[in-house]
Amino acid sequence: MKTQVAIVGAGPAGLLLGHLLRAEGIDCVVVERQTGDYVLSRIRAGVLERITVELMEQLGLDVRLRAEGLVEEGFNLADGERLIRIDVANLTGKTVVVYGQTEITRDLMDAAAPRGLEVIYEAGDVALHDIDSEAPFLTYAKDGVSQRIDARFIVGCDGFHGPSRQAIPASVGRSFERVYPFGWLGILADVPPCNEELIYANHERGFALASMRSHTRSRYYIDVPLTEKIEDWSDDRIWDELAVRLGPDAAARITRGPSIEKSIAPLRSFVFEPMRYGSLLLCGDAAHIVPPTGAKGLNLAASDVHYAAAALSGFFKRGDADAVAGYSEKALARVWKAERFSWSLTKLMHRFPDDGPFERRMQVAELDYIATSRAAQQTIAENYVGLPV
Ligand code: APR
Ligand code: PHB
Repeated sequence: MKTQVAIVGAGPAGLLLGHLLRAEGIDCVVVERQTGDYVLSRIRAGVLERITVELMEQLGLDVRLRAEGLVEEGFNLADGERLIRIDVANLTGKTVVVYGQTEITRDLMDAAAPRGLEVIYEAGDVALHDIDSEAPFLTYAKDGVSQRIDARFIVGCDGFHGPSRQAIPASVGRSFERVYPFGWLGILADVPPCNEELIYANHERGFALASMRSHTRSRYYIDVPLTEKIEDWSDDRIWDELAVRLGPDAAARITRGPSIEKSIAPLRSFVFEPMRYGSLLLCGDAAHIVPPTGAKGLNLAASDVHYAAAALSGFFKRGDADAVAGYSEKALARVWKAERFSWSLTKLMHRFPDDGPFERRMQVAELDYIATSRAAQQTIAENYVGLPV
């Protein structure tokens, strides 16, 4: 097969890019290791920045998002009894939309066939070749038969564990990483949320987050040591811990119910540079990971895809080779700012095992400052709704 752009990975980044390129009349194909159902089974975050909503609007794929997404004008930081509301609408003139990543992926997936976006699922052993040339190609196995796709560009949207980043020579690539000494235990339940807006809580027993997917489906998290096993956490134990950490007011509004999904995920900050090498571009988790504290993962994938689609459109439609050459620098500038915000909010809202009394005083002082300073709240708000693209 021959195409203009071969995309590895059919998660949100790969599908969003595929649709944007198709809409520009650029020939592309997406190659995905798993089945579509498996991709949809992954439960991820669900707070959308403006850029993510706008790209779905641009594609005309925002109907369900508009109908089912919850527009949120603020969120809350809880520190013991104190609840600090960050009024993002008033502070930035913008809002966020709560709408699960799974739903974004579903909307993109459902539109692929009708729009002629070819997605090859269950493609095994995907390998990238000649990425330092102007004629790179992919090989993969499908139904036991080896296949090849020749392209002008390959875009790695294959997540943290995919082959694309690994294809860049070690002598060229450089990574930056911070692994956090705790994980997030998440629970999804068909119960009404305890609060209309998100609550991030820093309690002496640890971090908690009250979020939601709709008015009838809630998503909660607590931080746990990395040694914890999900099988040791009954639903009741999770609900009990959430009630303590979110504080008495929120606890009084928690509706308990059976989990429909629960799991523990590690937290890391990770960035790989460069995000382009030869004819290979990286987007999303293939190039960077953020701790979920700022809900930036999906939104960073969206801004990467926005830049990559613009660069590739420039190349194919205007013969602008510089557009592709400038992709990595442009994407990384926004990635690093989101990494900083996610890292700082994680530091502010979690109790780190090695922290002492001084570090706790720093958290209290910063929360006091945020509670009493519009400037401090504006800084948090503009990062939360998403910095300009
Ligand atoms: N061959 C083909 N596809 C692959 C391979 C491979 N060898 N390895 C991984 N993939 C696929 C995965 O199965 C997955 O469907 O690449 C896709 C990567 O999707 P994501 O991991 O969701 O990454 P991305 O699309 O960048 O979206 C970022 O997802 O992980 C969350 O928190 C993250 O919200 C962020 C978002
Ligand atoms: C979620 O709803 O899953 C969610 C919300 C905000 C976060 C992380 C996860 O920061």
